[in-house]
Amino acid sequence: MSDEPIKPNPQIEQAAASDESIQRVHAILLREKPEPKEGYTPMPLLLLGFITAMIFGCTLYFVHYRGGFSPLVYDERYDPSTAAATTQVEKVDPVAQGKRLFQTCAACHQATGVGVPGVYPPLVGSEWVVGSEERLVRIMLNGLGGPLKVEDKDYNGNMPAFGPGGGYSWSDEKISYIVTCIRQEWGNKAGEITAEKVKEIREKNTRTTPWSASELEAIK
Ligand code: HEC
Repeated sequence: MSDEPIKPNPQIEQAAASDESIQRVHAILLREKPEPKEGYTPMPLLLLGFITAMIFGCTLYFVHYRGGFSPLVYDERYDPSTAAATTQVEKVDPVAQGKRLFQTCAACHQATGVGVPGVYPPLVGSEWVVGSEERLVRIMLNGLGGPLKVEDKDYNGNMPAFGPGGGYSWSDEKISYIVTCIRQEWGNKAGEITAEKVKEIREKNTRTTPWSASELEAIK
């Protein structure tokens, strides 16, 4: 056994030093968090279920309270099935409509329908007005000219056409309103002439020029 003093062994020194550095490196590794990686984590099933239930619930609510998308007013208690019964289209009053149209006729036949003696025949009490529907509608469609007798008085003028192709081209409805109006105004008491009736007469009527009184008299 030698009693040489123990010399520091450079190899052991080195190993100790490397132990230290290993610990240091580990400490760094423990401190540093792992780098975030790409990818995604799936949504928790519970949250997914909750959102689905919300959407479903909202849809149910909306379908039930959508109020028929009424543009008039938003009322979630609006029920289209009962509302339909109250918003029925009002029937138009042909006489009221006709009165407005009559302004065109009044220029000649006067506002009171009495006409102008010897020039414009009266509509009040006229056999042409309260008589045959077929003749009256034809007068409106094509006009009338030449010698004419109304309530035993003679006329010889020109009544313009109001039907299609004429200067006015009034619709079947307009013609039905005006004839119904003059048949029921000023004490005249004759029946309504519907737009359907006007259409029926217009469709079978081939005339394009104004009628004469004698030609009309040949029609029933
Ligand atoms: C530009 C003037 C004028 C206008 C506007 C006019 N009429 Fe006449 N109307 C006459 C003339 C004129 C006669 C007679 C024709 C003849 O002598 O053959 C007549 C005749 C009539 C007749 C047959 C005769 C009678 O007195 O019953 C009726 C019905 C009639 N018109 C209704 C109307 C209606 C309804 C209107 C309005 C939509 C109208 N007229 C617009 C001038 C007019």
